Amino acid sequence: PTIFVITPTYARLVQKAELTRLMQTFLHVPQLHWIVVEDSPRKTALVTDLLKKSGLVYTHLHFLTAKDRKLQEGDPSWLKPRGVEQRNEGLRWLREDRRAPPGEDGQQGVVYFADDDNTYSVQLFTEMRNTQRVSVWPVGLVGGMKYERPVVEGGKVVRFHTGWRPSRPFPMDMAGFAVSLRLVLTNPEACFDGEAPMGFLESSFLKGLVTMDELEPKADDCTKVLVWHTRTEKPKMKREDALQAQGLGSDPAVEV
Ligand code: UGA
Ligand code: MN
Repeated sequence: PTIFVITPTYARLVQKAELTRLMQTFLHVPQLHWIVVEDSPRKTALVTDLLKKSGLVYTHLHFLTAKDRKLQEGDPSWLKPRGVEQRNEGLRWLREDRRAPPGEDGQQGVVYFADDDNTYSVQLFTEMRNTQRVSVWPVGLVGGMKYERPVVEGGKVVRFHTGWRPSRPFPMDMAGFAVSLRLVLTNPEACFDGEAPMGFLESSFLKGLVTMDELEPKADDCTKVLVWHTRTEKPKMKREDALQAQGLGSDPAVEV
């Protein structure tokens, strides 16, 4: 089955670096279809070029987050969820616009939500490829912990190792699960709720799709970390700004 990877992304100084890293990881993964959804009023040249040159199978979409839903400069990062409308747009494309290649079972596939700043092991995609409904695994460096993970007993998920509100229906990061395409298509109303309280975004999507005892643990019964919730530092532009003030700033024609 093909793995459909949905990635929300937005313009900022580190965007090309993030997408280059992701793209080059995905080049190591067979049968992967990258659905890149820009948080922008139109598709940008930077992302268009990067995808064109990537050598990947991809779909390029965009969906602008409404201003009142968007985190403003200086807001704490937990105030509003990010990437919500972009992930929903990716789901909409899978349900409404996608044409399966002739002769192929149009429902065979796996859907994974990969943020543009995390770090993914190629092995992760091997683990998720045979997802029947929803598969799960640990995520490293997340939630103020070394890792969060589903706890597995007798091959079943019985609870979650997490530092915060383990009582949430699915206390997992976005990077910690994949869903079968069939389940996505047979539950056309399942999507991410941007109004969900903090920490409940993943649950808002999953709660209509599975129950805890149906979760399929991967990565050696959730004992291996194959994805890390890395976050990239915002680069400082102090010297750039100073030089620019003297008319000596970097050439804007050079794409970074
Ligand atoms: C954590 C989770 O890992 C995310 O999956 C979840 O969406 C997010 O919290 C949340 O609470 O909404 P975090 O590292 O804090 O992630 O979020 P970001 O990596 O900054 O953003 C998640 C994704 O949304 C990224 O792919 C990013 O490029 C995208 N994004 C971010 C946008 O499309 N627009 C924005 O304005 C900001
Ligand atoms: Mn992130």
